Amino acid sequence: MASNSSCHSLTTCVLFLFFLYLSCFFNNLNAKHSITNIHKNQHRHNKHLRNPPLNLRLYRAFLALQAWKHVIYSDPKNITANWVGPSVCNYTGIYCAPSLDDPKLTVVAGIDLNHADIAGFLPEELAFLSDLSLLHLNSNRFCGIIPKTFTNLTHLYELDLSNNRFVGPFPSVVLSLSSLAYLDLRYNEFEGPLPPQLFDKPFDAFFLNNNRFTSSIPRNLGKSKASVMVFANNKFGGCLPESIVNFADTLEELLLINTSISGCLPPQVGFLYKLRVLDVSFNNIVGPLPYSLAGLSHLEQLNLGHNMMTGIVPMGVCELPNLVNFTFSYNFFCEEEGICKNLTSKNIVFDDRRNCLPEKALQRSEKECSDKLKQPPVDCFEVCCDEGGFGKNASAGSVAIPPSAIPVAAMPVSAAPLVAPSYP
Ligand SMILES: *[C@@H]1O[C@H](CO)[C@@H](O)[C@H](O)[C@H]1NC(C)=O
Ligand SMILES: *[C@@H]1O[C@H](CO)[C@@H](O)[C@H](O)[C@H]1NC(C)=O
Ligand SMILES: *[C@@H]1O[C@H](CO)[C@@H](O)[C@H](O)[C@H]1NC(C)=O
Ligand SMILES: *[C@@H]1O[C@H](CO)[C@@H](O)[C@H](O)[C@H]1NC(C)=O
Ligand SMILES: *[C@@H]1O[C@H](CO)[C@@H](O)[C@H](O)[C@H]1NC(C)=O
Ligand SMILES: *[C@@H]1O[C@H](CO)[C@@H](O)[C@H](O)[C@H]1NC(C)=O
Ligand SMILES: *[C@@H]1O[C@H](CO)[C@@H](O)[C@H](O)[C@H]1NC(C)=O
Repeated sequence: MASNSSCHSLTTCVLFLFFLYLSCFFNNLNAKHSITNIHKNQHRHNKHLRNPPLNLRLYRAFLALQAWKHVIYSDPKNITANWVGPSVCNYTGIYCAPSLDDPKLTVVAGIDLNHADIAGFLPEELAFLSDLSLLHLNSNRFCGIIPKTFTNLTHLYELDLSNNRFVGPFPSVVLSLSSLAYLDLRYNEFEGPLPPQLFDKPFDAFFLNNNRFTSSIPRNLGKSKASVMVFANNKFGGCLPESIVNFADTLEELLLINTSISGCLPPQVGFLYKLRVLDVSFNNIVGPLPYSLAGLSHLEQLNLGHNMMTGIVPMGVCELPNLVNFTFSYNFFCEEEGICKNLTSKNIVFDDRRNCLPEKALQRSEKECSDKLKQPPVDCFEVCCDEGGFGKNASAGSVAIPPSAIPVAAMPVSAAPLVAPSYP
């Protein structure tokens, strides 16, 4: 996107513009000072005029930010109004820090434009910000795609593009960023399948909810380091694969609300021993609630609501020591074991409505329940779990999701990232 036609590649372009810029800069100075003065006191001048002294990397950052400003079409809060001149470290939203490879060099290490309401797009020149480790663009109106040149942002650690208007396929360029730990793409219009490699990346957290992703969760998940995975409100389909157990050593929050997941909950979910939040509500899950969930000793929030699960609510789940909120409404459970009958006595917030529990109020009609009972029991080994689609038989009675309010995983507020490196 470099506009100068004499630039054959971005790098030569940068160098070319740098020298052009230096010569202009010194020409300007010539107007005010004599050449001799500048030569004598260059160091002092540098310090005085530019704070910190301009280096090639800051100059590249200057080019990147000017290119960006050029494609900002609306900035109602005037955030970029002071994005003029070479002192990029003074620009609003731009954070400088000593370079990782040369502490004597000041470089642009972070950009935080959260809630800036800016409209525009991301130009290829942003790749000049090769020292960037944090890019937070939550709640703006950026559109278009993520440029392929982002592959040069090799130090990028946190990428938050949430609540914008980005489109196109999953931005595969993020898979090439070896330092990336935190990926937040929620509330955009990305579409199509997720690349299977995404699940093998050592990301600490990824938030993909409220997009138009369509693929299922791959059946062979590698070891992941993710502690938080939020997929809510996409059209995934398929099942939750047994290989989810490969996430056991790190996974603390798994949110699959309204993702068209079908089939049974695999017993392996019960081996995710660090889970604190499990929400699979508003899907097409069938079959029983696995007894293995009694192993989730850290579980605080469990939401199974709005599925087609049947059978018993196991005592082991109701006795989980840290459970504070257990929602299993809008299923076909027909029996509660032991203490499950009286969750009030355990101070657990619960919702058991619209099941087939004979002793409870606000249940499904007798007809609905007996119709369900007449169907052959679900055989979880038989309920096929096609990748990218519904289970062969699970789709048969798929529930229509009512337009009632879904408790969506909180709107993005990336102001509090999980691991925030601090910049001066
Ligand atoms: C932004 O700048 C424009 C023009 O300088 C001004 O009219 C407007 O009031 C400013 N808006 C804010 C929020 O400062
Ligand atoms: C940058 O900001 C600092 C602190 O606000 C100020 O002292 C300095 O003069 C500014 N530098 C330039 C070149 O504007
Ligand atoms: C990106 O990195 C490659 C390889 O290091 C380099 O050739 C290219 O010029 C860089 N592009 C930008 C925009 O910095
Ligand atoms: C479920 O997700 C789809 C997008 O996949 C969305 O259109 C729909 O409104 C969501 N349902 C609810 C109840 O939010
Ligand atoms: C319990 O969980 C449900 C479903 O996630 C939620 O709607 C409700 O607000 C929660 N209640 C409390 C008291 O946390
Ligand atoms: C549930 O337990 C509470 C306190 O332990 C008790 O007061 C209440 O009567 C019990 N309710 C039922 C329906 O057994
Ligand atoms: C799927 O359901 C059909 C009847 O609806 C049944 O004949 C068939 O055996 C089932 N297949 C599997 C794999 O459960």
